[in-house]
Amino acid sequence: MGHDQLEGDAGPELVPGRVLVSAEQLAERVAQLGAEITVDYAGRSPLLVGVLKGAFMFMSDLSRVIDLPVEFDFMAVSSYGHSTRSSGVVRIVKDLDLDLAGRDAILVEDIVDSGLTLNYLRRNLLARNPASLEVCALLVREDHSVDEAILRYEGFRIPGEFVVGYGLDVDQRYRNLPDIRVVESTSGAEVAEAS
Ligand code: IMP
Ligand code: MG
Repeated sequence: MGHDQLEGDAGPELVPGRVLVSAEQLAERVAQLGAEITVDYAGRSPLLVGVLKGAFMFMSDLSRVIDLPVEFDFMAVSSYGHSTRSSGVVRIVKDLDLDLAGRDAILVEDIVDSGLTLNYLRRNLLARNPASLEVCALLVREDHSVDEAILRYEGFRIPGEFVVGYGLDVDQRYRNLPDIRVVESTSGAEVAEAS
């Protein structure tokens, strides 16, 4: 069944619309980021810290273009938000398995929207005394409110529309799309990110 057949009789739904970043653009940019990280961390084994669930696909592809002995760990956070709104109140639902002390950690995020989640996670991870901590975010909102210096590796700057695909969801759907698409309402309009 195709995504466009999911519409029910319960009124307008949020569905993937036009492509904002194609699968080819994603692959090309991810390869560049992997090459950069490979050079920057030469001789070290960085620990990739993925933020579930949104970062799973990006981290999977990214890790395969990093030519170093990387290790993996994952955190899951819940932002108490729903649908297309992020509340900024973050709760750790699943913590890391590994000890960060002395490690070169790279926090891998799907999207920095307001930046509230990222700011919270950075503070939390820094308190565990890693040797270093950098951020690698696939998408960064043009109007984010984090310190630019924190965004060491970023894939694409995007405008304020809510997006899905390549790991990102709306109400848990569409994470498996191979590209990044703007969400539309079946009633017509594109959906602004509502923060
Ligand atoms: P922030 O705390 O406002 O930066 O929100 C970050 C989190 O909100 C991301 O990790 C995503 O889970 C979610 N988010 C923000 N914008 C989008 C979007 O356009 N599509 C899907 N998820 C989003
Ligand atoms: Mg997320």
